[in-house]
Amino acid sequence: MSTVDSTPEAAKIVESVDLTLMEPIFEKYRTQPGTLIPILQAAQEVYGYLPPEVLASIADTLDLSISKVFGVTTFYAQFYLERRGRHILKICDGTACHVKGTPMLLTALEDGMEVAAGETTDDGELTVEIVYCLGSCALAPVTVLNEQVMGRMRPEMLVRRVKKQIAAAQDDHQ
Ligand code: FES
Repeated sequence: MSTVDSTPEAAKIVESVDLTLMEPIFEKYRTQPGTLIPILQAAQEVYGYLPPEVLASIADTLDLSISKVFGVTTFYAQFYLERRGRHILKICDGTACHVKGTPMLLTALEDGMEVAAGETTDDGELTVEIVYCLGSCALAPVTVLNEQVMGRMRPEMLVRRVKKQIAAAQDDHQ
């Protein structure tokens, strides 16, 4: 698959897996031992996630088996093997948040934005992730939109906030 749209907006999203983007990363860590994790982190920063082609390239360059590289990515929660949305919404489903309404928040997202927990919207704008206790139980139910913590969230407010955030980011890019 190749990138057909070469506008600046499109350039921000890596549509195809351009492995030349890995070259400066490999160069940076070339002489250092034990660099698998920093290389994976750097690659994820570039691509937003770790596509299979990138994992294969890392395994090849470091002379490791693909299963070893894959095993590390699945062991650490910080690594993502699937493309994520431009906006990340974390929803706490720890005990306090669950009791205070997380299931209703998830239903509102499914109804209002057609996205379920663990999924990304078809337009690639939003990924919804479940987390278990953010340590702010007094503010339950707690959500985090792009690192911004939002406590005592209500279903209709959540959908409104998320839509507003997506629209604001789209305006910024125009
Ligand atoms: S259970 Fe959600 S912040 Fe603790």
